[in-house]
Amino acid sequence: SASLLCSAAVWAQPAPDYAQIIEQAHQKYKNNNDGKVADYIPALATYSPKFYGIAIATVDGKIYKVGDSSKAFPMESLSKVFTMALAMEQHGTQVVLDKLGANATGLPFNSGLAVELTQGAPENPLVNAGAMSTVSLIEAKDKTERWNKILNYMNDWADAKLVVNQPVFKSEMDTNQHNQALAKLMESYNSFYGNTDEAVEIYTRQCSVDLNVEQLAKMGAVLANKGKSPFNGKQLLNEKYVPQVLAEMAIAGLYDGSGKWLYTVGIPAKSGVGGGMVAVVPGEYAIAVYSPPLDQAGNSVRAQKTIEDVAHATQANVF
Ligand code: DON
Repeated sequence: SASLLCSAAVWAQPAPDYAQIIEQAHQKYKNNNDGKVADYIPALATYSPKFYGIAIATVDGKIYKVGDSSKAFPMESLSKVFTMALAMEQHGTQVVLDKLGANATGLPFNSGLAVELTQGAPENPLVNAGAMSTVSLIEAKDKTERWNKILNYMNDWADAKLVVNQPVFKSEMDTNQHNQALAKLMESYNSFYGNTDEAVEIYTRQCSVDLNVEQLAKMGAVLANKGKSPFNGKQLLNEKYVPQVLAEMAIAGLYDGSGKWLYTVGIPAKSGVGGGMVAVVPGEYAIAVYSPPLDQAGNSVRAQKTIEDVAHATQANVF
């Protein structure tokens, strides 16, 4: 019967044509000039606003890419997701909730006022204060081991050997007084769990790690695939913690833009001021986009537009 045929057709729905979908988005937005490249970190201001790359990594281990997909850029706040995941692996989700939180601040990502208003509770691990506090929670015998644990963990997610962009690291270290102040403020409220100078430095180093959209999409695919990399087969995050990582991304992944993002697109995502962004569709794929010009909240303009289109074309909204 017709209805049987119809439901059979729905059941046998083919996989989306990812290659074509990202090609279309690239065509549509490649000449978009909205937004402004970050310049509060001097080294970031040297990146061309024209760079534009897209990659999708699926849970069955396929990669689709277009544009500047092998152009390396600094992770910046994207790194916060993986240090948070490592903290969950080490301490469990209750400690992360108690010590780092899971609420929006309603304020910019580097707000000192937000820390004052809560008497030191960072509210979540994805704003700068919470991310530095997360670094201080990572268990290690010393600074070198703490850094190596974080970098090796990110390498496993990216299925690559990532390296620190030294000029960006130096530029950030020369200009990170605000983050130093945030860390000290947190320490004054007993919401810091290690040496502040050390944690600020490691945090700055993790922000300066370079990657490209293919590697970032592979990292996102770990979350899409219940914590297991579809590329190297490693179980990198306990399957039962994946919902909490995605929830933190939904709450604060785009800072002040997080609510509107969920309302309009409906998939957990994370941005960085370098211009990278990753979004996760559980059970299906992750998409990563690189385009340096940012909006007021610090999120890549073209990345948001691109992911919105792709999410729509693949019916990805989780709500
Ligand atoms: O600490 C900072 O300000 C930068 N290293 C990272 C901030 C960032 O990426 C916020 N993002 N949108």
